[in-house]
Amino acid sequence: MPEVRDSGSPTAAEISARIRPRALVEQNGSDQKRIAIPEPVTELLRQCGRPTPLHRARRLEKHLGTGARIYLKREDVLPTGSFKLNTAIAQAYYAAEEGRTTLVTETGAGQWGMSVALAARMFGLRAEIFMVRCSLEQKPYRRHYMELLGAEVQPSPSPRTAIGRKILQDVPDHPGSLGTAISDAIEYALGRPSAAYLAGSGMPHVYLHQTLLGLEVATQLREIHGEALGVEGRGDHLIACSGGGSNLCGLIGPHLRAKADGADLRFLAAESTAAPRLTKGVYEYGRTDLGGFTPEVLGYTLGEDFIPPPNHVGGLRNHHSSPLVSLLRHKGVLDAVAFDQRTALEAGRLLLRTEGLLLAPEAGHAVAAALDVVAKADAHALEPVIVVLASGSGLLDLQGYNEVLLDT
Ligand SMILES: Cc1ncc(COP(=O)(O)O)c(C=O)c1O
Repeated sequence: MPEVRDSGSPTAAEISARIRPRALVEQNGSDQKRIAIPEPVTELLRQCGRPTPLHRARRLEKHLGTGARIYLKREDVLPTGSFKLNTAIAQAYYAAEEGRTTLVTETGAGQWGMSVALAARMFGLRAEIFMVRCSLEQKPYRRHYMELLGAEVQPSPSPRTAIGRKILQDVPDHPGSLGTAISDAIEYALGRPSAAYLAGSGMPHVYLHQTLLGLEVATQLREIHGEALGVEGRGDHLIACSGGGSNLCGLIGPHLRAKADGADLRFLAAESTAAPRLTKGVYEYGRTDLGGFTPEVLGYTLGEDFIPPPNHVGGLRNHHSSPLVSLLRHKGVLDAVAFDQRTALEAGRLLLRTEGLLLAPEAGHAVAAALDVVAKADAHALEPVIVVLASGSGLLDLQGYNEVLLDT
């Protein structure tokens, strides 16, 4: 991985060591090939429904008239409605083990916040959550869910932090972004030694926890569906939407070695045209937060002063892509496509009408990417296996679907 630039005082590494459970900091720097999942975490994941189904979307295939086999990895079936629960449980476990009493985090569209709120409850911890303001206003039900679990939810930018007050002074009606919310949460956690700051994405330990996605997919394709992945000349695809990169890296991570060894596999990131870092950004150093708490990292960026327009895909509205996702893109291991929210929601609606599954707008981008792959497939080539990460449920996003698609 490229060097990080970390020259502040305190340094970002010192800040990270203060606010994160030690085990997670160690995982970030680990060069071990495998790290075992602690038994209590495995047990809770099992109780929550893991492994989640790998669903063959036969009615969608028929509608498209394609010979490609399209599979959906159904993270929408988890109790909080998204894959975010996988790492929330693991991180809460390590925080509790270390004697921390409060979990502090940011959330975009609210799925991560819901997962932290539930994981906090599982381990008897408090949860304090900074939610991007425009998403909080668009999706009040996610706030209600977090509050039902006993979590405290604040809009970001927040008047409770110095960085939040400064942002609000400069731009009083700032809609908030993951950049503002990360800064609020880190500053808030720094002032509270009994608190642990949890990251929902972007960090190696989060990707590590999410690798169970790609591992389960490999087993399920082989053992349940009898599919071999990466057959020569077929161009199989693993597709996920990409915000901070955790569902994408979780899906493709366990398959990187096979691709490097020559398997015919394509990895595809679907991003939002509201924050098109991988497709339009420049590859340079920058920070993922606005408060200067994180180091400068090399990644595809739209610049720290880029304010993504408010839309219904809160989980994809970051200004700077993670170093790992960016490196994979830079090296040509990862392809990327961007869709506007209408196209993504139309893809989501098609999935509802064919398979009866309503996915989150973020996941709609991955579905749109799969439709694109099918549309562009060479009619004479072998028909690929396409795995789409259905990262979350859209049942709490119906207002967004309605607002955008009502007229069509
Ligand atoms: C349902 C859903 N999918 C995808 C994402 C994007 O996150 P990541 O890029 O870390 O997978 C989010 C983030 O909030 C989300 O809630």
